[in-house]
Amino acid sequence: MADKATTAKLSIEGKTLDLPIRHGTLGPDVFDITKLYGEGGVFTYDPGYTSTASCESKITYIDGDEGVLLYRGYPIEQLAEHGDFIETCYLLYYGELPNAAQRKEFEHAITHHTMIHEQMSRFYSGFRRDAHPMAVMVGVVGAMSAFYHDSTDINDPKQREIASRRMIAKLPTIAAMAFKYHIGQPFVYPKNNLSYAANFLHMCFAVPCEEYKVNPVLARAMDKIFILHADHEQNASTSTVRLAGSSGANPFACIAAGIACLWGPAHGGANEAALQMLGEIGDPAKVPAFIARVKDKSQHTRLMGFGHRVYKNYDPRAKIMQKTAHEVLGELGIKDDPLLDVARELEKAALSDSYFIERKLYPNVDFYSGIILRALGFPTSMFTVLFAVARTVGWIAQWKEMIEDPSQKIGRPRQLYTGSPRRDYVPMSRRSR
Ligand code: ACO
Repeated sequence: MADKATTAKLSIEGKTLDLPIRHGTLGPDVFDITKLYGEGGVFTYDPGYTSTASCESKITYIDGDEGVLLYRGYPIEQLAEHGDFIETCYLLYYGELPNAAQRKEFEHAITHHTMIHEQMSRFYSGFRRDAHPMAVMVGVVGAMSAFYHDSTDINDPKQREIASRRMIAKLPTIAAMAFKYHIGQPFVYPKNNLSYAANFLHMCFAVPCEEYKVNPVLARAMDKIFILHADHEQNASTSTVRLAGSSGANPFACIAAGIACLWGPAHGGANEAALQMLGEIGDPAKVPAFIARVKDKSQHTRLMGFGHRVYKNYDPRAKIMQKTAHEVLGELGIKDDPLLDVARELEKAALSDSYFIERKLYPNVDFYSGIILRALGFPTSMFTVLFAVARTVGWIAQWKEMIEDPSQKIGRPRQLYTGSPRRDYVPMSRRSR
């Protein structure tokens, strides 16, 4: 095989620049353009960053054409099948799967830091009862920097680790409290004898007036959902966390910024929309008419939970979600979920239709997740909150990697200016408009 090229040549107005080509372990090569402006006097233009690698990372790899997702090299299917969320957190954050002693120490630390400062609970009553739980999440997570002063020095590795562990441990508590406040029930304190996912379900669904026993099949499903959402490379919210962190902002503020970005319907809000769409179709017999509507561009209707910016193949997370949906519905004795029937029929119809085949549109992670979350008892307003709980570890791992990267600089994109050229100030008396 021929050696890979080490430079690319770029000619600008008769001047030739040599751009170093860098090779990763997997995936496309990149042109290193860091000296482009200094040597060539030009910027690159790439709105939406469709062809831009914003950083170097060792955490997550996606091959969108093949439908591959790896965390630290391990396929998502293997982690979901054989691992659990605590182990996944350790892997993403520290880079390796934990040995028995490391796992014990990590799990103990996370489990024993799930309570939040008692004064933080008063924050909730400052929000209107009908506030969206994501609005509450942005506020309360940001407020953590006002409570845990001993872990905001980003230049101290120990403080970074403490802040990271605090967020992994406390985000489920903050999210469950947002849920309880939303539905008008009393907060439920965490329980240290429960696993991460079981404790979360307990904090969400227990009430003081009766015993609540967590169903292990449902806890396992929740755990899998957390694993599947834990990281996804340099997506919008992760890039937001990195950019916020690049200025030296404290870690809690950076994660609050990530949550704000995730809230958008083009990002974390799609599972809510997918479930709504399935409900609106309502009957498998109506699927052909809906598919026809989606294909008719004048209708501006998208098949929610289908298509992805990176995956041009089946999203590997969607396959696991589909299996988990069956497990959860089976455990709950829901023999016929009309939404699952509609989803299956939609998937079958779309995957054999040339419109979707030609555009490489496949189910994404959001297609089946709403069915599971609804069966678990969550209202749609909580769907993105659950995503935020799971993604926190990914954001933190990426933030830590950025801080520890010696080539890290404050993020400062440039622009193609298309406004007015220089002009002189016009006194009011001479302004015609
Ligand atoms: N239904 C119908 N047509 C679609 C869909 C869809 N879900 N997705 C893309 N297309 C069509 C577009 O109309 C376009 O067709 P054209 O070439 O005839 O104009 C073509 O496929 C390419 O679409 P783009 O919008 O250019 O693709 P892009 O990569 O920018 O969009 C996105 C990706 C936003 C996810 C899109 O597929 C979509 O809107 N899907 C539905 C929403 C959704 O499920 N989002 C969740 C993503 S996963 C996540 O964030 C966790």
